[in-house]
Amino acid sequence: MIQVKRQKFVIGNWKMHTNAAEARKLAKAIAVGVGREDRVCVAVCPPFPYLALVTENLKGSKVSLGAQNLYPEEEGAFTGEVSPTMLLDLGCRFVILGHSERRHILGESDAFINRKVHVALAAGLDVILCVGETLEQREANQTSAVLESQIILGLAALSASLLPRLSIAYEPVWAIGNSGHQATPQQAEEEHIVIRESLARMFGKEAQSVVIQYGGSVKPENASALLSQPNVDGALIGGASLHADQFLAIIQVAIEQTQREEKST
Ligand code: PGA
Repeated sequence: MIQVKRQKFVIGNWKMHTNAAEARKLAKAIAVGVGREDRVCVAVCPPFPYLALVTENLKGSKVSLGAQNLYPEEEGAFTGEVSPTMLLDLGCRFVILGHSERRHILGESDAFINRKVHVALAAGLDVILCVGETLEQREANQTSAVLESQIILGLAALSASLLPRLSIAYEPVWAIGNSGHQATPQQAEEEHIVIRESLARMFGKEAQSVVIQYGGSVKPENASALLSQPNVDGALIGGASLHADQFLAIIQVAIEQTQREEKST
């Protein structure tokens, strides 16, 4: 397989954490910490109510804003939901779709996620599509089949021309949060290859340029081993992204890995 250069992504998923004061402080600290650095793509995804204040605090910085979800309609009678245009209005560049907590707690189906992917991209948002197997599925040797099916169904009918605006986050459900489990760098690399091969079957050689991030208990201590895998192009970070020092330390690891790769090519 030809090695294509892909920018590293480090994205913070704040989930349902922070309050207004904490969100402001965290956004400021990250913006200052990142400074003028733009070799790595950095974004934070706060809860909806804090998007406006985070956008204010990121102004002029190299840190992008993302949302954790959207509803796949432009507007209408959808009480409690948020449209892609509203997210764009608030300065979002990214939206996370198909996170395992939405699949498993909120019951989102692949078909619904696919609708969201289409609507988000059409509106102008870049999509981070999350895929991942449960522990039960891994133990039943279904990991590859689950990942392939989430990719095929989640990206159904997508034009290859939109791939530059899509990234995939591989997040094994059993490794997320305080599960006490972590995927080894080898496990992450293996599944990233499975995902890249599924993308290649759907989209051909364009699949080589798709960023595939790993998510699930990424910390400053394990970031280097994960990010040095050839197919691990970044990290989607929950817990550690709520601490500016930890998040910035992971960004630093991604910068150093980028420098190593630049030297070796
Ligand atoms: P975690 O969350 O880093 O806390 O495991 C990752 C995610 O769910 O996106």
